[in-house]
Amino acid sequence: MSTILKFEKSSLKGTLTVPGDKSISHRSIMFGAIASGTTTVEGFLLGADCLSTIACFRKLGVEIDLRGSQVTINSKGIGGWKEPDEVLDTGNSGTTTRLMLGLLASTPFHTVVAGDESIAKRPMKRIVDPLRLMGADIRGRSNGQFTPLAIQGTRLKAIDYTLPVASAQVKSAILLAALHAEGRTTIEEPVATRDHTEIMLRHFGADINRHENIIEVAGGQSLSARHVKVPGDISSAAFLIGAALITPGSEIRLENVGTNPTRTGILDVISQMGADFDIEEKETEGERSADLVIRSSQLKGIEISGALIPRLIDEIPIIALIATQCNGVTVIKDAEELRVKETDRITAVVDELSKMGADITATDDGMVIHGPTALNGADMKTYGDHRLGMMAAVAALAASGPVTIDDPDCIAVSYPGFFEHVNSLLV
Ligand code: S3P
Repeated sequence: MSTILKFEKSSLKGTLTVPGDKSISHRSIMFGAIASGTTTVEGFLLGADCLSTIACFRKLGVEIDLRGSQVTINSKGIGGWKEPDEVLDTGNSGTTTRLMLGLLASTPFHTVVAGDESIAKRPMKRIVDPLRLMGADIRGRSNGQFTPLAIQGTRLKAIDYTLPVASAQVKSAILLAALHAEGRTTIEEPVATRDHTEIMLRHFGADINRHENIIEVAGGQSLSARHVKVPGDISSAAFLIGAALITPGSEIRLENVGTNPTRTGILDVISQMGADFDIEEKETEGERSADLVIRSSQLKGIEISGALIPRLIDEIPIIALIATQCNGVTVIKDAEELRVKETDRITAVVDELSKMGADITATDDGMVIHGPTALNGADMKTYGDHRLGMMAAVAALAASGPVTIDDPDCIAVSYPGFFEHVNSLLV
């Protein structure tokens, strides 16, 4: 159902805590399910994607108790999982789909993994290829390129593998398979991607090493149950950061945002654009976090490319919107991975921001944005993509006329309560 967004006031002021990090929340359930014993999680993201992960592990016989954002996982370890009698439904979640494949490749039973329409179009060959090299038995459409995928667990052997795409999901699926394979696996990543899997593996007691860009993990390791603290998701905070930057008279404080350096590309970008903001680092072990204070700012266009891209890949829709309000040109390159996200985010971002009057052009691997341009009202489409939905909502704050958004509910994939949060900051 389409909703009209009309904000009478558009300055943002106040303090809030964004929901938990999506990547870390998924992994907390997976690691808790692999470990035997009781794992507890605080700050878990109650987004639809992470709830899909919980539902899959419940079908594998893992006991998971959810109380608000506190989760308790009771598992007998990966050896105690049972063959599910239903398809494992991964919903809209690429992380659930891909990391589960790495785990199910070695469990001694049959499973079928399938998600929604968007998941059925997303490339799985990047996961299936290395898992097959390890000995996995995975079948699906187009020789295993797309879901639904049927997996018969087998004994796996270690591999030495160089990632052909900068993808934390591919790296993580191989690492999870490698934990239960025979021998030592090495993974070379030409460009660094988010390292939440490596950090959490260490936290759960695994032996994992990194030398420059090569990660090494031994097979046959078991994990010990732990307590996990999930910081706020910088990818969710990014939309409020964007909103505060482009609406005059704003100043917001976002508490306990995850600032793992593999995720803070957005902060580097707004700094180069000339944003007025502070980062107050917190004393934490494992995953880093900070309070962020963001003020509305005069910004300038910049180039965004190379090794920075994986550090902000999910933030490009909001960065593109911010760029429409910058003085000068912003060029985004080396971001062809955007074409295989929840939707083709190059085409979708360019089409939707163009409707509002932005001067934005698609390229094969990114986009070029000339700013500043005034934004007008428009009927915005989300394509079922949560981040397109939030980009449209933030654009509505800066637009001169009413904005409609076709599917606001999809935002709950990563940011349940997004509209309540935005409304609570409006003055
Ligand atoms: C994620 C990795 C990224 C990111 C996605 C979450 C993860 O995908 O875009 O939202 O949790 O590992 P890729 O690994 O495909 O780049």
